[in-house]
Amino acid sequence: MLSFSQRTSSATILVFVVGVAQGAAPPSLPPQSVFIDPLSFAVLGQNATFRDSAFDSGFNPSSTPTPFFQILDAGFLDILGPEPSFHEIASNPDFGFANEAPVYVPDTDEIFFSGSPFPGNTNVSNQVNRVSMSEVEDALRASNGSAVNVTVTPINLPSTVLSTNGGTGPFRGSLLFVGDGLGARPPAVTLVNPRPPHNATVLLDNYFGRQFNSLNDVKIHPTSGKIFFSDVSYGFALNIRPAPLMPNQVYRFDPDTRVVQMVLDGLVRPNGIAFTQDGRMAYVSDSGSLQDLSGTTALQTQPATIYAFDIDPVTERFINRRVLAYIDAGVPDGLQVDTNGNIYAATGDGVQVWTPAGTLLGKFFVGMRTANMVFAGFGRLVLLSETRLFLARVNAGNVNLEGR
Ligand SMILES: *[C@@H]1O[C@H](CO)[C@@H](O)[C@H](O)[C@H]1NC(C)=O
Ligand SMILES: *[C@@H]1O[C@H](CO)[C@@H](O)[C@H](O)[C@H]1NC(C)=O
Ligand SMILES: *[C@@H]1O[C@H](CO)[C@@H](O)[C@H](O)[C@H]1NC(C)=O
Ligand SMILES: *[C@@H]1O[C@H](CO)[C@@H](O)[C@H](O)[C@H]1NC(C)=O
Ligand SMILES: *[C@@H]1O[C@H](CO)[C@@H](O)[C@H](O)[C@H]1NC(C)=O
Repeated sequence: MLSFSQRTSSATILVFVVGVAQGAAPPSLPPQSVFIDPLSFAVLGQNATFRDSAFDSGFNPSSTPTPFFQILDAGFLDILGPEPSFHEIASNPDFGFANEAPVYVPDTDEIFFSGSPFPGNTNVSNQVNRVSMSEVEDALRASNGSAVNVTVTPINLPSTVLSTNGGTGPFRGSLLFVGDGLGARPPAVTLVNPRPPHNATVLLDNYFGRQFNSLNDVKIHPTSGKIFFSDVSYGFALNIRPAPLMPNQVYRFDPDTRVVQMVLDGLVRPNGIAFTQDGRMAYVSDSGSLQDLSGTTALQTQPATIYAFDIDPVTERFINRRVLAYIDAGVPDGLQVDTNGNIYAATGDGVQVWTPAGTLLGKFFVGMRTANMVFAGFGRLVLLSETRLFLARVNAGNVNLEGR
């Protein structure tokens, strides 16, 4: 394990190191947090109840009401800061309105994201929604810290923007989306105007005349500006797409020349992608153990694993694959990297945060499948947990790619 002083140069944490032996309970905890010492559960005993399913609500030995910060390593305190908070900000018990493709637009202080697909229905695309973060701030101020339910506004998109499942940006002022495709209609990479009339431009919808399987997630390389997306057969698993006709792979796409190249194969179900700030490394989640989104046909012996790669500086192929982490709850889905290089993975119990050395620092624990997350500016992490949207106020953020 990495010591705290190796992990960070922060003066705050160095003070901490002096007073606390590694593994010991932190002297005081921030609000809404619990410290779960790995020593406390290393031996559960012969008569313990063990978790048979990776797709249950997760490992919450303190039975703390959700949402809360589950600290597993004192390094998580640096991310939380002294005054974190964690609240539900919107909910719809009847429908998974908050699923994927989160994008924060700083100009208007809004987030965009897509709702769940409609399995088996090739007539209806999922809905892209918008939430005003200023409205969230006002509502939370007025509620004095309890859950709020802000307005979730559906936005009307052209029929070329289908089954939106991945998003990033803003990219040159637009939302950059990738979609599953729907029925015979192809998966595509699209640009969408974040302002009305929300007009869209399709950048790519084929690989030399062949359809992709279902485009899942997308990120922009921080130095080259190339677009990288994953293609995985979840559209077929959801019965909204024909059987896959290509391997599940990750691609590099030049938005100017429109040249598309495959950069990574060999994962079972490549899913979320994130780059380090310097662009030298990437993380890719393999959600191989999740076959369809119900989790019921899950193949738990398949990967639920985040891999690290070097980016070849010339070809931008993903090389030198190694393991970062195996996820204990559900599968790793969307990924983000913060400005200190920590990796945030959306998982079956919320968002889990790992150091680059593979130490699990802690969890934004919501006890529900969370497909993705986005930093809505520094210090605000928004979690997309299907029927609920959460906001965690913390002391972390990621790189803003605006203007690229
Ligand atoms: C486990 O349960 C059995 C049956 O109730 C009991 O005999 C045994 O002492 C228990 N073992 C432990 C380690 O508690
Ligand atoms: C939040 O508001 C939406 C839209 O009005 C509504 O459908 C949903 O039931 C509300 N959530 C709760 C928990 O009342
Ligand atoms: C899709 O549309 C077709 C033609 O209108 C209709 O026959 C079919 O029942 C619809 N499918 C679903 C799942 O709604
Ligand atoms: C807000 O919540 C705090 C802590 O629960 C409580 O002490 C305070 O009285 C509340 N203020 C209002 C205006 O309800
Ligand atoms: C939307 O339309 C405006 C005006 O024609 C155009 O400048 C812009 O590029 C369009 N945006 C997208 C994403 O298609």
